[in-house]
Amino acid sequence: MTVVADLKTQFTHGVLPVANSDEFARQEFVKSLKFHLASQVSVGNRDAFEGRAAPHFTKAEGRAPETMVDVRKAMQHDPYYKFWSALQRNSQEMMWKSVQLPVERQHDTLTAAGKIAAPRGSLRLNPELEIPRYHRAVDIHCMPGGYHTEFAEDDLANGAVYDRAVYIYAMGRMGPFNSDIGDTTIAYLKANYPDLKPRRILDMGCTVGHSTLPYCEAYPDAEVYGIDVGAPVLRYAHARAEALGQTVHFSQQNAESTDFEDGFFDLIVSHILVHETSHTAMRRIMREAHRLLADGGVVIHAETPPYRDLPAYDAFMLDWDTRNNNEPYWGASHEISAAGIAAETGFDPAKAFEGYQPSAFEAEEARRTKVFQGGDFGGGGAWYVWGVQK
Ligand SMILES: C[S@@+](CC[C@H](N)C(=O)[O-])C[C@H]1O[C@@H](n2cnc3c(N)ncnc32)[C@H](O)[C@@H]1O
Repeated sequence: MTVVADLKTQFTHGVLPVANSDEFARQEFVKSLKFHLASQVSVGNRDAFEGRAAPHFTKAEGRAPETMVDVRKAMQHDPYYKFWSALQRNSQEMMWKSVQLPVERQHDTLTAAGKIAAPRGSLRLNPELEIPRYHRAVDIHCMPGGYHTEFAEDDLANGAVYDRAVYIYAMGRMGPFNSDIGDTTIAYLKANYPDLKPRRILDMGCTVGHSTLPYCEAYPDAEVYGIDVGAPVLRYAHARAEALGQTVHFSQQNAESTDFEDGFFDLIVSHILVHETSHTAMRRIMREAHRLLADGGVVIHAETPPYRDLPAYDAFMLDWDTRNNNEPYWGASHEISAAGIAAETGFDPAKAFEGYQPSAFEAEEARRTKVFQGGDFGGGGAWYVWGVQK
């Protein structure tokens, strides 16, 4: 993205909901509270573990805690951990509320702004699409109504809610366009697949296009497509892309089974999709990626690190979302191995890859905790990427 007014502030494009001063103060409070929890309060958990919970565990079990499951057993009833966890959960609920109120207030204006007369890109919705059970059964990460719920005709409210909430959730550390995961994945691709010249790129689970738009600038000769199951987020993504002058073709599709032709894409990407799909769905998505990729094409997914790469205590802290933030697939998704899933889904496991790429957005580097922990999204300062070349 080229137009940056102020790196410390979310970029104000045509459909971003505007907060009045009271609403803004409330949102800033939540952002500061989240940062305080991640950088000041959470560190006390390690003291509680080492000073109290681990010695209790060792006494009771006759051995020291070794695995993530051991650490959970040791920590789950610890009063300091419960105090931090309750604050963390509350900050999440406060975040959604702080963003919902201004969106509700501007609902009609936002709906009107979503109607684009002469778009550069396109939007294709499918009211018949069955929303997967793994989205209907739970409000993922406590977002009221999830990505798909519509409250009115032509509704884009939950897209607007998501755009603003992600900025607060990441405490501004994903940049003014919330584009850090896309920018970082692109940096990995440019470094590791410099010869890849995609004709068409597909972003699976694009939501409002935070990570999709960077591909328009990084690969200007490519056509960029984004799919998601949620209509409100896609309506918003389309309006947002148009407001930012980018050409993207959005459609409402399940990544497990799309209507694109075989071999249509040279690059398929996803950013934090994997942890929100079930075990079965993820395998179906990879099989679909295999069908959609041309020979030599690449599929790449960006997430937070797998637990096997972390010490047991850190893995436990990163796993907070599984039990406390309505993220039922978070834990299992952090056990995936790129070569393993490639072999299961028709790819050559020898062409699978995994890696870490430092966050592309450097301006907030000083505010990163450099720890991967629940409720500290983007704090680690790197993204884990995995995938395979066809
Ligand atoms: C955490 S959001 C992704 C955020 C986005 N990629 C970004 O970088 O800003 C996960 C998205 O994946 C979508 N999703 C989940 N399962 C899907 C599926 N099977 N097909 C298409 N989209 C899916 C959800 O609707 C949601 O919008």
